[in-house]
Amino acid sequence: QQTGRLAGKKVVVSAGGTVEPIDPVRFITNRSSGKMGYALAQAAAEQGADVTLVSSSELPAPVGVAMVPVQSARDLLAAMTERFEDTDVAIMAAAVSDYRVATPADQKMKKNADHAGLTIDLVENPDILATLGQQKTTQYLVGFAAETQDLLTYAQNKLEKKNADMLVANDVSKAQVGFGHDTNEVTLLQRDAAPEKLPLQSKLALARDIMSRIATQVEGK
Ligand code: C5P
Repeated sequence: QQTGRLAGKKVVVSAGGTVEPIDPVRFITNRSSGKMGYALAQAAAEQGADVTLVSSSELPAPVGVAMVPVQSARDLLAAMTERFEDTDVAIMAAAVSDYRVATPADQKMKKNADHAGLTIDLVENPDILATLGQQKTTQYLVGFAAETQDLLTYAQNKLEKKNADMLVANDVSKAQVGFGHDTNEVTLLQRDAAPEKLPLQSKLALARDIMSRIATQVEGK
């Protein structure tokens, strides 16, 4: 029997940069350690939730968290939509590639003999957060926004456009914030509430703060 503010709740968290193959040995990805998503999964488990981490990162799963490995954005979409209906909280912390290679090669690509350049055609990936936003009924849906300028304006637009309930906004142009760091500083945007800036702190401490705000929204429901 789990205790904690999220006991009995199902939480699904995505983490890491998606991996989009070019050929069997090459890929395109996003700069993301997956640390923030893992910290959120741990924080949810600490609050007694039944947690699944859908991840393209190689980091080991936190204790008590179920792990679903994925590679591409389309794998991630399938894993998230499969679980979404039966989930109380879905958190899209993954850095999803906006584009994938149109036709990945079956065999390792060879250099051009004539030393010409190489062009790779990309096609747009589905927006997973927006897709879940459209499918949403009772779920509490959380997205991230990493921006280098006009952070709050872009993040507020994303909250509405993707039909999320919370957007975690971080200014990745600042030192010690975001990508690969162990610390992060974010502003939380929620519907019908003023933006809340959380202090610069470890990703785990921050994840606990964020999870406590989420628990306030979903506990007792
Ligand atoms: O539009 P942008 O990529 O800045 O939005 C960031 C948020 O949307 C993150 O929560 C990210 O996980 C999610 N996202 C997604 N599918 C995409 C692109 C982003 O779910 N194709």
